[in-house]
Amino acid sequence: MSDNKPTSSAPWWQRGIVYQIYVRSFADANGDGIGDLPGIAEHLDYLNDGTPDSLGVDAIWLTPFYQSPNRDFGYDVSDYRQVHPEHGTMADFERLLAEAHRRGIRIINDFVPNHTSDEHPWFVESRASRDNPKRDWYIWRDGKGGKEPTNWQAAPGGKAWEFDKQTGQYFYHAFFDFQPDLNWRNPEVKRAVLDDIRFWLDKGVDGFRLDLINYLLEDENFRDNPRLLAGWYMGKLQDTTYTRDLPETHAVLKEFRRLTDEFRDRMMVGEIVSFPWQQSPAAAYTNREELHLAFNMEFLAVARFRADAFRRVVDRFEERCPADGWPAYVLSNHDVPRHAGRLGGYAIYGHRPYAMDRAKICAAMLLTLRGTPFMYYGEELAMTNRWWPLKDVKDPLGRKVWPLYQGRDACRTPMLWTAEPGAGFSGGKPWLAVDPQAERLCVATASRDPESVLSFYRRLTWLRRNTPALQTGDYEALGAPRPDVYLYRRRNETQSIVVALNFTGRPAQLPADVGGAVLLSSSPARNEAAKNVTLAPYEALLLAE
Ligand code: NOJ
Ligand code: CA
Repeated sequence: MSDNKPTSSAPWWQRGIVYQIYVRSFADANGDGIGDLPGIAEHLDYLNDGTPDSLGVDAIWLTPFYQSPNRDFGYDVSDYRQVHPEHGTMADFERLLAEAHRRGIRIINDFVPNHTSDEHPWFVESRASRDNPKRDWYIWRDGKGGKEPTNWQAAPGGKAWEFDKQTGQYFYHAFFDFQPDLNWRNPEVKRAVLDDIRFWLDKGVDGFRLDLINYLLEDENFRDNPRLLAGWYMGKLQDTTYTRDLPETHAVLKEFRRLTDEFRDRMMVGEIVSFPWQQSPAAAYTNREELHLAFNMEFLAVARFRADAFRRVVDRFEERCPADGWPAYVLSNHDVPRHAGRLGGYAIYGHRPYAMDRAKICAAMLLTLRGTPFMYYGEELAMTNRWWPLKDVKDPLGRKVWPLYQGRDACRTPMLWTAEPGAGFSGGKPWLAVDPQAERLCVATASRDPESVLSFYRRLTWLRRNTPALQTGDYEALGAPRPDVYLYRRRNETQSIVVALNFTGRPAQLPADVGGAVLLSSSPARNEAAKNVTLAPYEALLLAE
């Protein structure tokens, strides 16, 4: 396939930028209000047409578009090899893949190996009787003294065991009760799922985002998880010693890697869920034998817009990342409030005055750190979070599980393409209401404004694409004048670049020995040459030393 302008010999998944598409919400080609594969194909030029007028991304990650009852919008798969008719056909997928490859854009499928839907034929068989040949494909246990087999809890909270009346046993689910966990200790399961993965590799997909990958295996002896707190919360907060990050999971990932390594240039990126107090847990998964990349999800938990909070995450990962591993950063995804809102001072309607500036600081950081940047669709527009009455919430995590929580709909609203009704997302009624700020934020409006967040992203991505030191150079944190300025250097054999990010609305003087030619600035007033630099409020500045 064509690859537009490789700038070093590092693999594409280290050099490149990945763009996450929440398939349901990106573009609806057939007017039923639900995003689909043909819709994505229509917008490939927006993503990368080989010129700086496009977003300049190297790969897209498609959230699950497989056959599914859609109780968790695709994360409950009932057939790993079929395209859900809501999203198109297999022919549509093949066309999208070919069209993307023609432009040098790779495609990453979301794959959900930890669990299936309870409507997957494997589970339907498994639950049919205790002696069904597929019984052991899932995790069935007798209760203990009339209660659940262990104290294990599901990731969204609540019990991880569901009683099945028909056969009088419990099955285990790490997530929702309609997502039974596969039994990865059963060799037949391993073979069947690896075959499904091979099916997509054979089709030519460039890799996988692996859902809940550190939940793959559980304790063989079904020991209770230790409690973290006793007392008022009745010990409900528990450690995940026996349900997450098991050594056996690492062993299975080696098998995943051996499979993908049979093919050229493929990549796996894992979702590593962790507690806030666990430090750089993803570092244990990115290496030559397991995953190529593992999401560092720690930016998602940074609550205050402070340089030192981000720097801590990065420095810690740099310290722990093995030599054959590689960082992968993310600021937003389909599970958490978007960062333009979260870090932009949460405004229920519109943006706070500084939110756009902060969105640019975030962009500059994400796209200049050492590590693969993962963007979430719409972050280039500074899309925020849309709130509505609880009764209209569609995400199963909202309302039903956490009664006062809006769920994840807020960050999954339709992509804003134009100022027309439906925001150019759909000619029909969008499955989730369009953000009322469409006219101001949409691609059409933002493209006309050289100071928009979108224009800034385009400048950054193309600068990164043409600057090997930004892609694969070393990272060195520099002493900053204040904890609210993030200052670092990216350097390879031929180039040295200083990145200076002012996280505040006040000017900030850089150390006297920092200077160079201006490569890029978010401040329209920045001059060509720079010495004795004072950063403007919320300025992101890149200097070539
Ligand atoms: C993590 C996914 O990102 C989330 O959207 C999903 O609900 C759970 N895994 C369950 O598959
Ligand atoms: Ca599991």
